[in-house]
Amino acid sequence: MEALSEKLLNWYKTNKRDLPWRHTSDPYAILVSEIMLQQTRVDTVISYYHRFLERFPTAAALALAQEDEVLNLWKGLGYYSRARNLHRAAKKILHEHQGRFPESFEQVRKLPGVGDYTAGAVMSIAFNLPFPAVDGNVLRVIARINGLDNDIALPETKKLISGIVKEMIPEDRAGDFTQTLMDLGATVCIPTTPSCDKCPVSFDCRANKEQKTDILPVKQKKSKPQTQHFYALLIVHGHKLLMTRNHPRTLLKNLWGVPLIERENIDEPPAEKLQEQILDKIGIEVLSFQAMGKVKHVFTHRIWEMEILSCSKCSIHDLKQEYQWVSLESIDELPIPTAFTKLLRAGGLG
Ligand code: ADE
Repeated sequence: MEALSEKLLNWYKTNKRDLPWRHTSDPYAILVSEIMLQQTRVDTVISYYHRFLERFPTAAALALAQEDEVLNLWKGLGYYSRARNLHRAAKKILHEHQGRFPESFEQVRKLPGVGDYTAGAVMSIAFNLPFPAVDGNVLRVIARINGLDNDIALPETKKLISGIVKEMIPEDRAGDFTQTLMDLGATVCIPTTPSCDKCPVSFDCRANKEQKTDILPVKQKKSKPQTQHFYALLIVHGHKLLMTRNHPRTLLKNLWGVPLIERENIDEPPAEKLQEQILDKIGIEVLSFQAMGKVKHVFTHRIWEMEILSCSKCSIHDLKQEYQWVSLESIDELPIPTAFTKLLRAGGLG
C-alpha cells in the first residue's frame, strides 16, 4: 500500500467518527445516508436517518409508501427533490431490480438522484469496491496535499482529483478510505483554519509545506443570491387556512404553503391594487389586511423576503383550483417546507 494511504487509514482507525451508517453494510441504508448528507450536516442527518430507516427499513417499504409520507419524514431537511428522487429510486429497485439493490456502478449511477459522487460512495462504502467519491471535502484535501491550484468548481478538476483518489485507494479498504478522506476534510483539513498539527499527512502536504493552506483550494466565486420580495397571505375563513402546492419555486413542488404574491416594486402598492392581484390570482376578494411582520428565508441561490398579511375577512368568488382550504388542526400533518413553517409561526398559526 502506498505510504500516504497507509498513514491516512491509520489515522482513521483511531479518529473516525462513530456514525450510524458506519454500523451497516446494507447498500440501501448507505444510499439513504448519502442522499441525506448531500446537502445537510452530519449532526442534523443522524436523527432523520434513524427515523427514516425505522419507518422504511427496505427499498421495498419505501417504494410502497405515499409520497406525502416520505416528504413528511423529510420535513426540515430541505432540498425535497432528494426525497422525491430517493422514493423513485426505491420504486426502481423494487420494479426493475426485483427488490435487490443493484451492484454495478453503472446501475447505481442510473438511480434517480444519484450522481458520480453518491454512486462512488455507495460502491466503495457498501461494496468495498475501488470507486472514488469526490465531494467538496475530498476536493479540498486532495488539492491541498498535491498543491493543486486548479479551480475546483470546474468539472475537469473534479475528474483530475477523482483519478488521483482512485490511484490512492488501497486494495480491500475502499469503504474505509472513502470515509477517511471525508472525515479528514470535515474535522482536520477544514476550509479556513485547518489543524495541520493534527493531520497525519502534514509532512506530505504541499499546501502545508508551502504555507498555502489559506489559498488552496482555489474556487471560483458563485454569483450572489438574488432576493425576491413577496406578500405572504394568511387567509383564514371559518377555521380554515387557504393553502396551495403551487409556488414560485419548482423546488418546493408538491409541498404545502400559503399563497405568495410577488412584489415587483417593493414600495407599498395601494391596497386596492393588491386586492385586485389577489382576486385575479386566487379568486378571492380580501376585504381587509393586517400586517404581521416580515420573514426572510435563504435558499442556496435565492432569498425570499416575505411580508406577512393576515386576512380574516374575505369573500370567495371563483377560487382557482390550485388553492385549497385546510383546517387549522390538520396543518401539522402536511409536508410544509421551512420557508413556510417560519411564516406560519410568525403569523401565530404554527
Ligand atoms: N458526508 C457524506 N458522506 C459521508 C459519510 N459516509 N460519512 C461522513 N460524512 C459524510
